[in-house]
Amino acid sequence: MSTQNQNPPNEVLRLRERTPEEEARIAAEWEQREKAERQERELERRRRWAACGIPSKDVRRIAAGELESTPALSATREFERKRTIVLVLAGPVGCGKTTAAARWLTQSTSRGTYLEPYPRRFLAIAELARLNRFNAAAMEPVEQAAALVVDDLGAEFLDDKGGFASLFDAVMDARYRHLLPTVITTNLRSDEFRARYGERTVDRLREHGQFVELAGKSLRTSER
Ligand SMILES: Nc1ncnc2c1ncn2[C@@H]1O[C@H](COP(=O)(O)OP(=O)(O)O)[C@@H](O)[C@H]1O
Ligand SMILES: [Mg+2]
Repeated sequence: MSTQNQNPPNEVLRLRERTPEEEARIAAEWEQREKAERQERELERRRRWAACGIPSKDVRRIAAGELESTPALSATREFERKRTIVLVLAGPVGCGKTTAAARWLTQSTSRGTYLEPYPRRFLAIAELARLNRFNAAAMEPVEQAAALVVDDLGAEFLDDKGGFASLFDAVMDARYRHLLPTVITTNLRSDEFRARYGERTVDRLREHGQFVELAGKSLRTSER
């Protein structure tokens, strides 16, 4: 056995007290490390939201928590509380619909589906319109997303053959069937919405949820 394995003399074992400078340095290092970990967690959270499709500018605003209470935010809170399946947020440009829908997506909870759902999705209308409704592999993640935002319905090109209308109906039908929640934002008023998508679509939306028309001034004047 080597001498190194033997117990050291008592004098070496006695703990030396740290000097105040050492204490301060250790505390500062600790604080630094905690701050870095907090920042990393926060970045991770923002990346997760961006991965759902939420635009980075909205991720930033929501994560910063600088949200004033708006009718749009109240409507999404009420939707979450009532646990209906669909919410249409209709209102003029700039009244906070996209912000409220994105924030809802980050906080929504499951409604009791028995599916193993796909990740939450935020879809700008152009992304939805690009989908091929005959391509099951592309449709399924949208139809079965745990929560879905369709942002700016009404801004899409409406073809004569009704391709978009069928696509939208297919997505919504699947989501009603599976009890998966959707928030739709639109600049259309309810009469314009009805004229564009038809009686049947509007009735089904009403049957499964609410169509909330937001009045209200634009928040864009206070653009940050
Ligand atoms: N709850 C809120 N608190 C503070 N500012 C907001 C809030 N919601 C939206 N905004 C501001 O208003 C602007 C428009 O919001 P947005 O959600 O894009 O409106 P919409 O989708 O109705 O056109 C945003 O860029 C943001 O600066
Ligand atoms: Mg918007």
